[in-house]
Amino acid sequence: MPVRIVALSGSLRAGSLNTALLRTLRDVAGDDVDVVVAPPLQLPLFNEELEASTPRAVVDLVELVASADAVAIATPEYNHGMTGVLKNALDWLSRGDRPLRGMPVAIMGVSPGMIGTARAQEHLRGVLSALGATTLPAPGMVVGRARDKFDDDLQLDDGRTRKYLARLVQRLVDSVGQGVQDD
Ligand code: FNR
Repeated sequence: MPVRIVALSGSLRAGSLNTALLRTLRDVAGDDVDVVVAPPLQLPLFNEELEASTPRAVVDLVELVASADAVAIATPEYNHGMTGVLKNALDWLSRGDRPLRGMPVAIMGVSPGMIGTARAQEHLRGVLSALGATTLPAPGMVVGRARDKFDDDLQLDDGRTRKYLARLVQRLVDSVGQGVQDD
């Protein structure tokens, strides 16, 4: 059975660099790995009063995440944190069946800036800890100066970054079933 990785992007943009990174993850993963890039996290804003009748988009996301052996999350950095889109999705995923509890998670992110989402990833790591996910130890994968690394078709054409990404996928696959400790 292939290892199933569900990949979540913190960006809703059609031209998102972070979603492009997740598509590359699908390309560099081995034949024994099945990577599913989730649809954009276009969910209603979390409101406890909506929980009485959970919105369809949330139910679908919960089912998708629950179907995973491991999860990869790529987030843009907005004002030194993860995006509101991603935080909102994680708030939904923190309720009910809590499908991220005990789930191996790899964190990554892309930015045109020099620091390449390092601050957003620390924010994300803390929130995932609250959800009981088992994040791969830091550093995740920080891709700065993205404009030098992606071509006009949003293909990652930087060899070193592709190799690093392939190694990260392998670490994630290796962690499945091993109870990786959060750091
Ligand atoms: C940004 N961006 C940004 N970049 C960064 O490295 N650190 C930051 O704190 C911020 N803050 C920020 C706030 C807001 C509101 C926007 C719109 C953008 C730039 C951001 O990294 C860039 O737009 C990325 O390309 C967004 O990721 P996607 O959508 O390409 O995946």
